[in-house]
Amino acid sequence: METLLLPFSPRFIILTICAVVTATLIGIGIADRKIFDILLIPIVIFGALTLLGVRDLMQKGHAVLRNYPISAHIRFLLEEIRPEMRQYFFESEKDGMPFSRDIRAVVYQRAKMQLDKRPFGTQEDVYREGYEWMHHSVSPKAHAEEKYRITIGGPDCAKPYSASVFNISAMSFGALSPNAVRALNAGAKKGGFAHDTGEGGFSPYHREMGGDIIWEIGSGYFGCRHLDGSFDPEAFARVASQDQIKMVELKISQGAKPGHGGVLPAAKVSEEISKIRGVAMGEDCISPASHRAFSTPTGMMQFIAEMRKLSGGKPTGFKLCIGHPWEFLAICKAMLETGIYPDFIVVDGNVAAVNYVLQGENKGPYGQLPPSGNRIEAMSGEVFEFNPEGLMKKLTTITEIDRVESEIKGTTKINAFQKITLLPTSEENSEYRAKIRSVAARLHENFDSGKNDVNGALATEDIRINADSRMLRGRQALIDLLKLLKTAFPDMNIRDEYVLADGNRAAVEYVMEGTQTGPYTLPDGSVLPASGRKVRVRGIEFMEFDKAALLKELVVVHNEHDFATQLSR
Ligand SMILES: Cc1cc2nc3c(=O)[nH]c(=O)nc-3n(C[C@H](O)[C@H](O)[C@H](O)COP(=O)(O)O)c2cc1C
Repeated sequence: METLLLPFSPRFIILTICAVVTATLIGIGIADRKIFDILLIPIVIFGALTLLGVRDLMQKGHAVLRNYPISAHIRFLLEEIRPEMRQYFFESEKDGMPFSRDIRAVVYQRAKMQLDKRPFGTQEDVYREGYEWMHHSVSPKAHAEEKYRITIGGPDCAKPYSASVFNISAMSFGALSPNAVRALNAGAKKGGFAHDTGEGGFSPYHREMGGDIIWEIGSGYFGCRHLDGSFDPEAFARVASQDQIKMVELKISQGAKPGHGGVLPAAKVSEEISKIRGVAMGEDCISPASHRAFSTPTGMMQFIAEMRKLSGGKPTGFKLCIGHPWEFLAICKAMLETGIYPDFIVVDGNVAAVNYVLQGENKGPYGQLPPSGNRIEAMSGEVFEFNPEGLMKKLTTITEIDRVESEIKGTTKINAFQKITLLPTSEENSEYRAKIRSVAARLHENFDSGKNDVNGALATEDIRINADSRMLRGRQALIDLLKLLKTAFPDMNIRDEYVLADGNRAAVEYVMEGTQTGPYTLPDGSVLPASGRKVRVRGIEFMEFDKAALLKELVVVHNEHDFATQLSR
């Protein structure tokens, strides 16, 4: 009986109606041939819909089409026009990413030489963090006459370069069209900027406008290589000595391509690209993941010195995206050991995080506390944000200050310092990194919505936890720790500021906010009764994951002292 009624269920009713209408129209048309022509169009429409419905019913690719023949197409149609609907009806002038409609409009207006200002106030939130404006002053400064430039090039450089603070970062010819390269270089010429070629070689389009050039050499050594892909010093010297090239940049890594080099498929290796890059036509053009000319930090310094010499003493530096801080430290060590210093360093990616242990003896006064001579050991976390010039613009440091204080006072004794060993690095792929990044973010999302049992499933059975002097072990301990907070602060909300992932580790900087409506047990066992107070604490978590992207180690650094002080104020 149920099967018989199925065609009349809401899911299939549209198909049934179409089929019945088609059959009825055909029937009427056959009975009265004179009106058949009039009925032809509706017959075709309903017939086509019926065939579409039957096809939906038979196919197995889309469950929604199989369950709702014909009508489910409305969903696909809406999905198709969703971006336009959002853009035209719902999105505000400021919403779009990466460029809002407002910014897009300014670009269009300027390109067409139209007025790009709107008088009478602004729609901008001028009080938001990072918004910059000019202040009135009773003693305004005179406009500086000299151009603000920075001289790049140490004592080993015969030809230092006076660089603008605004320059054009590396983008290869090949990734960019000839016209884009021409336009950027013309801009560089006009504004006195330097234009970085990117690793795709120094093309005729870079030469045409005569703007200053930084020649970037990647692992493919394009424009200065032998046919087998190895570095060709003579070809390098020939190009690098040209006047338009002001600096040379050795590319080690790039934020967008973590650890995997690059490939320009054979089909895209045109005659022009093959000539500029010095690669064979009809073959994939490979930028290997690492350099062939050196394999150690010391080798890298020697290569930089060689490039500087071959270029006739032009400033020579390197570009990298710092994935592992200790790799960068190894490069610094190589600079000290070899006495070879690059003239500049370009840093790609602007956030980094470090977890470390402070160790030392307290020999001077600390705040109100007199020197004790005691050993001090405490855990710290730092998150750095850099500006486009690679200068640090934000630093968050969180240290277990409560622990430091109790060690100075002698309440906590450090008999011997922990032995610190650098953890081995495991090179995981970008898909894995995206996965652990998402797990790191989900931990707090689940916490906010009170789903801490679900958080247990994100961790290994024997996860190790080091949270504000609590050394815990096991999945249940993680759930209990999170529940301890959520019970004392039911409205506790954790807002992530940065979620970073690399290798098999992740770091999250966050701000925690909530009202204490239940008792809270501190790590030292003392209990703070419900206070009704609101707390706001900043913290950093460092995480290590196993092969299955399960959390196997969690280090939490937040100022427990700050936490307790806010509650007992
Ligand atoms: C089209 C394009 C091509 C790029 N090509 C290179 C390149 O050849 N070499 C390189 O070191 N970086 C290259 N980059 C990366 C940029 O130099 C820069 O590091 C990156 O875009 C991050 O800076 P941003 O946040 O200002 O975009 C390229 C970027 C883009 C968008």
